[in-house]
Amino acid sequence: MSATLNAAGGRSLIEGGEYRLTAEDFRQISAMIYADAGIAMPDHKATLVYSRLAKRLRALGLKNFSEYCELVGSPTGGDERQEMLAALTTNVTRFYREPHHFEHLRTQILPPLIASARKGGRVRLWSAASSSGQEPYSMALTVLSLLPDAAQHDVRILATDIDPNMIAIGKAGLYEKSAIEPVPPDLRQRWFAPADENRGMVKIADAARVLVEFRRLNLIGDWPMQGRFQAIFCRNVAIYFDDPTQAAIWSRMVPLLDPAGALYIGHSERVSGPAERLLRSDGITTYRPLVGKEARR
Ligand SMILES: C[S@@+](CC[C@H](N)C(=O)[O-])C[C@H]1O[C@@H](n2cnc3c(N)ncnc32)[C@H](O)[C@@H]1O
Repeated sequence: MSATLNAAGGRSLIEGGEYRLTAEDFRQISAMIYADAGIAMPDHKATLVYSRLAKRLRALGLKNFSEYCELVGSPTGGDERQEMLAALTTNVTRFYREPHHFEHLRTQILPPLIASARKGGRVRLWSAASSSGQEPYSMALTVLSLLPDAAQHDVRILATDIDPNMIAIGKAGLYEKSAIEPVPPDLRQRWFAPADENRGMVKIADAARVLVEFRRLNLIGDWPMQGRFQAIFCRNVAIYFDDPTQAAIWSRMVPLLDPAGALYIGHSERVSGPAERLLRSDGITTYRPLVGKEARR
């Protein structure tokens, strides 16, 4: 199978595959995924689109991508459009991914918050593209490493993602044993237990689970949250957006960041647009809001 861009919409864009994907089909799919999720699908992603959606065509018994486009573009195709979105988003994640962020959270952000939480203060953290939960649970474990009874205090981690399947996995809190290898050993032993009902799986303890609230949220849609977060993890999602969408997301995040908070972004991402002038770097892909005189300069 090879992918060649063909300006003539009717001709095959993907040659030699099980299904025909034309340049026009690809254009329609790209336009839908951009409108629904802000995800940019440049031409070189044609092979990825083909391979991820071919199984949907097979499941639906369709003959080619034109039929699929007709379905997902029709008023009755809403459910399948969700399936398409889920198939085209990349959900790769792991516990303690980019561990320097959790170290920064533990040493730079949390200590004063924990002291304040012990006296009734509020702690709010946000994982803005939480995928299957490993990121917000790593945040929860970082909190628990300093405040084992965090559940008794006003500490909450909001975990949001566009993909409801990922939200369901996060809520369940069940993972393969091998998935928790990156978790520091003391935390792994204390906060995970073998899942009775699933051999080879482990379940995260309720004390960690109750700290995390999973919600579906589209980063290019409305954000109903009120109040500020002392840490926002928005990692490895902006890379899928085009430049204006990225800049808009960073600009919307800054006002939601507590003046003493931090924004953590993915290793291949950078803050761009007007938000750049409102944040300062504080380590690898870690940003703090500029405050007072610094902000006015
Ligand atoms: C590669 S994962 C990153 C997970 C985690 N933040 C990490 O760094 O390990 C990207 C996630 O972004 C989500 N996503 C993609 N577009 C989104 C959007 N418009 N709004 C919210 N989440 C989105 C996907 O569903 C996916 O779970």
